[in-house]
Amino acid sequence: MTTPADPVIRQQIEYYRQRAPEYDEWFLRQGRYDRGPKSNRQWFDAVEIVRCSLDVFAPAGHVLELAPGTGLWTERLLPHARRITAVDASPEMIALNRSRLRSDRVEYIQADLFAWQPQQTYDTVFFSFWLSHVPPEHFEAFWGMVRSCLAKTSRVFFVDSLYQPDMTARDHRLGEPEETTTVRRLNDGRAFQIVKVFYDPPALQQRLTNLGWKITVSSAGECFLFGKSSV
Ligand SMILES: C[S@@+](CC[C@H](N)C(=O)[O-])C[C@H]1O[C@@H](n2cnc3c(N)ncnc32)[C@H](O)[C@@H]1O
Repeated sequence: MTTPADPVIRQQIEYYRQRAPEYDEWFLRQGRYDRGPKSNRQWFDAVEIVRCSLDVFAPAGHVLELAPGTGLWTERLLPHARRITAVDASPEMIALNRSRLRSDRVEYIQADLFAWQPQQTYDTVFFSFWLSHVPPEHFEAFWGMVRSCLAKTSRVFFVDSLYQPDMTARDHRLGEPEETTTVRRLNDGRAFQIVKVFYDPPALQQRLTNLGWKITVSSAGECFLFGKSSV
């Protein structure tokens, strides 16, 4: 999909490698991500909506998880899955995921998803907070790669951020909704430029329909969107 020389892709990989030990603070609304009780409650309510929807979806069989990070969602997949193949570029993220899950039903592949080619098909493909990091010019190729991971009856589930300036870290400035890159900081102040694309659920659903997908994209409260395919 891209050459390893692509500077934003490289910087994004490096950012997440460095961020791995502090990554969960974002999801748990700790430190710079603690935006007060009201915002935090909205966040966790939205998490619960997606978790319940994922449980109903029941990601069964051999699940391919793209960009699994520290395993915040891998652990939600595991009770449903027969096995999971998890592909992430960061060895630090993979190590944290492995120690969270401690399961011989999870296999890890360290790879750049913009270069990785699936060697087989899977029953379910899942990705959380990954689509927004796919550069717009790779959108179609990314979905082509996802398609090549699927057999006829396979399904897809994904979750991602809605544009919500109050939910990012206190020292992050969210650009305009149409901007596709942003600057992210670590706790020690180091800054990285990464890709962050926000989607409007109906527009994303239409775009995927135009590519031949049957995917319903919904909002979860104020914070997230999530998509699930039907066969
Ligand atoms: C926003 S985190 C999402 C992690 C996890 N899915 C979650 O919901 O908590 C993005 C993940 O993508 C991984 N990543 C970044 N660039 C990548 C690339 N080019 N190929 C594979 N993984 C990549 C990072 O290491 C990180 O684990």
